Amino acid sequence: MNYEDKYIANTYQRLPVNILRGENSTLFDVNGKKYIDMMGGYGVAILGYSNTDIKNAICNQYDRIPIAHASEYTEARSNFVDKLSKIAPDYLNEFYLGNTGAEAIEAAIKVIKKSSKKHKIIAMTNSYHGKTLGALSITYSNKYRKNFGDILIKDVEFIRYNNYDDLNIIKNDDDVAGLFFEAVQGEGGINIPDKEYVKQLREITEEKNIILVADEIQAGLGRTGKMWAFENFDIKPDIITIGKGIGGGMPLSVTAGKKEYMDNLDKGEQSSTTGGNPLACAAGSSVINQLKPELLNSVYKKGELLRKTLNDELNEIKIVKEIRGLGLMDAIELRVKFLPILMDMIKNGVLPLYSGINIIRMLPPYIISNDEIINASEIMANSIKSYYKGI
Ligand SMILES: Cc1ncc(COP(=O)(O)O)c(C=O)c1O
Repeated sequence: MNYEDKYIANTYQRLPVNILRGENSTLFDVNGKKYIDMMGGYGVAILGYSNTDIKNAICNQYDRIPIAHASEYTEARSNFVDKLSKIAPDYLNEFYLGNTGAEAIEAAIKVIKKSSKKHKIIAMTNSYHGKTLGALSITYSNKYRKNFGDILIKDVEFIRYNNYDDLNIIKNDDDVAGLFFEAVQGEGGINIPDKEYVKQLREITEEKNIILVADEIQAGLGRTGKMWAFENFDIKPDIITIGKGIGGGMPLSVTAGKKEYMDNLDKGEQSSTTGGNPLACAAGSSVINQLKPELLNSVYKKGELLRKTLNDELNEIKIVKEIRGLGLMDAIELRVKFLPILMDMIKNGVLPLYSGINIIRMLPPYIISNDEIINASEIMANSIKSYYKGI
């Protein structure tokens, strides 16, 4: 008996999978059925499910000291921020540690508010930054916002992602304090902007003294094959937000910013009882140790293999609109609703993710093997083909 439906608030779209355990990139359900994991726990399981180093880091830390509030100094947190400073851009040298992605966004909003005399925040169409009220204010989807409009931050304006004309909106507005931007949009359906667009966006924000926040919660930490997704576009944001895989499964998030901005938050203006706790920090240090250049290169190559295999299988299938992605952040956009196809994929042993109503999204662990990628692609392609034949 699983009691979740009985007791947990009905806020999640549930899938018909009851996971018992995981091994590398494979999940096993309570009946022993195997799934190739293309969801990665919504992009959290970047190093898979049986990482000995993360496990040892957490267990050893528990033995030493599992709890130390951020008002106390502690070795695990000190080690983590030291390691983080080596993978974060060197000019983003001050961190706020939270638990969830949305918390990292909330902190960034406050930093902007305290760092600028201007009022407006710009976000993008199809953006996703989380569902706490500040984060929801800059998240685009009406589905998430519609019943909360009156309590969201008022001074937010959305411009069209990757739209050159809309850059004039920022150019002509002298009241913009900050801009939130996903270098590759995740929840919005894996959208990759033009390099030239991003370059112009950065030029304008620099000219107008607008604080640019790159939300790296989904696309960062090696997901696109580079440590940070914004590096694909040769820009330097003023703040980045990090979440999901950074804690190796423990809740951990980071707002990393230029000291001149981060220092504007006064004591007590942002805090969380468990933010940057020793267990999460120990796991986080282990994750950072393992994000070696060879692993990130392999992420890039595995993404190419995934998209090539899918393209080879699906190039004649008219319900497939586009296969796109960067590294292991990929999508199959369909011309039909995905639900029956997604259910068939799950039935056949692949667990994918999705966006909207017609996009199959993939965020597998970086350690997925080439064989698993080919196998998963074939299973997913077969589900799409058999649906296509049936219509
Ligand atoms: C780009 C981006 N920002 C923020 C968030 C919110 O993170 P969390 O769900 O941990 O609050 C997400 C979650 O999917 C995300 O993809």
